[in-house]
Amino acid sequence: MATPSKDNILTVNELKKSFGGVHAVDGVSFEVPRGSITGLIGPNGAGKSTVVNSLSGFHPVDSGQVTLDGTNVTNWPSHKIAQQGLIRTFQIARELQRLTVFENLLLAPQVQPGATALEAIFSRRKIAAWESKTLGRAVALLKRFNLFEMRDEYAGNLSGGQKKLLDLARALMAAPRLVLLDEPMAGVNPTLAGDLQAHIRDLNREQGITFLLIEHNLGIVEALCNRVIVMAEGRILAEGSMSALRENKDVVNAYLGG
Ligand SMILES: Nc1ncnc2c1ncn2[C@@H]1O[C@H](COP(=O)(O)OP(=O)(O)OP(=O)(O)O)[C@@H](O)[C@H]1O
Ligand SMILES: [Mg+2]
Repeated sequence: MATPSKDNILTVNELKKSFGGVHAVDGVSFEVPRGSITGLIGPNGAGKSTVVNSLSGFHPVDSGQVTLDGTNVTNWPSHKIAQQGLIRTFQIARELQRLTVFENLLLAPQVQPGATALEAIFSRRKIAAWESKTLGRAVALLKRFNLFEMRDEYAGNLSGGQKKLLDLARALMAAPRLVLLDEPMAGVNPTLAGDLQAHIRDLNREQGITFLLIEHNLGIVEALCNRVIVMAEGRILAEGSMSALRENKDVVNAYLGG
């Protein structure tokens, strides 16, 4: 049983999620240490994306518990989980195609003041300050990810790799404490994948953002993560360093061997 602790930003306990007769996630427990880049790997259909969807409130779980920074957030709606500091990206980038790159960032989920009419009337100054902070953050992220020159381009016209960068930039608009990345390097050319890897490391070191990284490129997982969790058939198979996992027969048979 995973016990919530101050050192773990996320604790997942006995999570279960089925689709019809398919036990996609079948009693999964694990922890994500605060400040870590933790890897989540495993064969296709292991249940990795279903875990991310469950943690981030994109679908209800059947049973189990998700604790984020001491708060039980199980089955909270995704926008409330985002406000609590957990943001995720998608295996297939979900850019708003008919909006520009810049507009995509401005519409990313974030904590907004002035949500009620009363607030809007009585705290215009607060809203103006928030707007200028939001614009500043968007510009800084576009520059960080080399997307500033593309800011007025429709997001739908970006390359696959640029869409993945935009997805990460959108996630960062909410100033998250924990980011779940679902295959951020998939379909990205090696140069851009190297950039993404460097961005994740820098954000972790400079801003202390914790990451849970799903990725099939094990070289990148090894370079970024000191602890890696392996899933197969809806369950946790093993946990450890990439080098220890390469020596683990069960992991080799289920995933690495293929
Ligand atoms: N919305 C859904 N409806 C029905 N079945 C689903 C749904 N989402 C996932 N599944 C099934 O749940 C199982 C786990 O899928 P999941 O997408 O979580 O795996 P994954 O580890 O992310 O795989 P991949 O590495 O291919 O992305 C699979 O058998 C999949 O077909
Ligand atoms: Mg997946």
